[in-house]
Amino acid sequence: MRKQIAAANWKMNLTLQQGETLIDELLSAPHDLKENQQAVFAVPFPYLINIKNKLAGKKNFFVAAQNCSDKKSGAYTGEVSAEMIKSIGLQYVVIGHSERREYFNETNAVLAEKVNICFENELQSIFCCGEPLAIREAGTQNSYVETQLKESLFHLTAAQLTGFVIAYEPIWAIGTGKTASSEQAQEMHAHIRSVMTKQYGNDVAETISILYGGSVKASNAKEIFGKPDVDGGLVGGASLIAVEFAAIINALK
Ligand code: 13P
Repeated sequence: MRKQIAAANWKMNLTLQQGETLIDELLSAPHDLKENQQAVFAVPFPYLINIKNKLAGKKNFFVAAQNCSDKKSGAYTGEVSAEMIKSIGLQYVVIGHSERREYFNETNAVLAEKVNICFENELQSIFCCGEPLAIREAGTQNSYVETQLKESLFHLTAAQLTGFVIAYEPIWAIGTGKTASSEQAQEMHAHIRSVMTKQYGNDVAETISILYGGSVKASNAKEIFGKPDVDGGLVGGASLIAVEFAAIINALK
C-alpha cells in the first residue's frame, strides 16, 4: 500500500514561536495516523531542528526542508546542502516547488541535480510539478507536466523511483483559493501515474505517492484525497491554521 501524506508547506511564514505554538495546537487535536499515513512539515531552515525535536517520538510525523542546494558543498554563501539536512536527521526535502522554479530560476535540469543529491544523501524528495494558467488554458498541461517529469526524473532507476513522492501543484490554484476540481486533480494524477508506468512499469508506478497541492483546505480535502490516484496533499495557507491542518491530516485515506 503506498504512503498517504499530508504535507504542510509553511513557505516563508511564521516565527519560531508561532510555529511551535502551531505544532502544540496540532498535536493536541485528535489525530490517528494509520501505518501508511504520514504528516510532514516543511518548515523554514532555522527551525528544522526545533520542530523535529518537538515531533520526536510522534509516530508518522516528519519534518522536511523546503529546498536544498544542487551543489555538494563549498563557496555558495547562503545555500544549504542535502548533506547538512541529512546530518540533522531529516528524511524529506521539497524539490522544485513552483515558487522556486519561478522566482529562483530552477530549471528541470537543476532539479534533476537536486533529486540526485538527495538520493546520494538518502533523503526522500517531494518532487513538485504543475502547469501555469496559460498552459492550462491552452489545454497542453499533460505534455507540460510530462516534460517536467522526463527532464528531472527519467534518469533515475526503477529502484530509486519505488516509493518516490511527487506533488502535482497547478500554479493557477496555489494561494488563489481556486482549487482544481477533484476530477481535474484525478485526471492529472492518473496521467502522471501513466507516464511513470510507461517508463518504469506498473509495479513501480503503483508505489509512487502523488500529492495534490493548490488551495487544499479542511472543507475540500476529503473529496480530493478520496480520488484513487490522489495520495494526500501539499498544503500552504491552510497548514498555518492548526484546526484546518488537523482536519486535513484526518482526511487522508
Ligand atoms: P496553498 O495551499 O496556499 O494554495 O499553497 C499550495 C502550495 O504551494 C503548497 O506547496
